[in-house]
Amino acid sequence: MKKIKVLAIVGSLREGSYNKQLALAAKEIIGDRADFEIVDYSDVPLFNEDIEFPAPEPVQRLRNKVLEADGIWFFTPEYNHFFPGVLKNLIDWLSRTSKGVPQVFARKCAAISGITPGMSGTGIAQDHLVTLLSFLNMRIMNFPRLTIPNALQQVKDGKLELTDSKPYLEKQVEAFLKFVQKELDCQ
Ligand SMILES: Cc1cc2nc3c(=O)[nH]c(=O)nc-3n(C[C@H](O)[C@H](O)[C@H](O)COP(=O)(O)O)c2cc1C
Repeated sequence: MKKIKVLAIVGSLREGSYNKQLALAAKEIIGDRADFEIVDYSDVPLFNEDIEFPAPEPVQRLRNKVLEADGIWFFTPEYNHFFPGVLKNLIDWLSRTSKGVPQVFARKCAAISGITPGMSGTGIAQDHLVTLLSFLNMRIMNFPRLTIPNALQQVKDGKLELTDSKPYLEKQVEAFLKFVQKELDCQ
């Protein structure tokens, strides 16, 4: 059986990002059951149709990574009840289809998680992200999604030490691996 490839896209470029640390925790839980890569897209420029063709190298690199992946797992903070602009910018770049370039997100499986020091748990941002990913024709695993509020209760010296939320992340890992495998079996 082919090893599943999961690409993690974190909606925060912050070095100590809790969402990045959550992605790393998911990677650890997955272990060798799937390839799991957290992509660095900090070099992707702001979208501008004037520089769209030929696609800048970072965009082409990211496009290829999404194309090769079986599942995309979004780990996103919430900014003003939305997902951050850097994530929207990346998705806008990768969503472009004209001139023979495929829309790379189409029919890819998607999982969504988020963690915040606030009380919302990133749920509102996730709902907005679902709207966008649905428009891009992704196969979204709507249940379970993971929303972690009050992050600082599980952070020590800037390091995320998942306690209460770990069983939920474990459940989401199991569910997503099954979800992706089921989609692959149907192809
Ligand atoms: C511009 C801005 C807006 C924010 N708005 C929200 C919000 O609407 N809800 C929330 O729970 N936290 C909000 N926060 C706090 C972020 O959740 C917090 O900075 C979080 O640590 C960012 O994620 P990261 O640790 O992965 O970088 C906001 C932060 C910024 C910078």
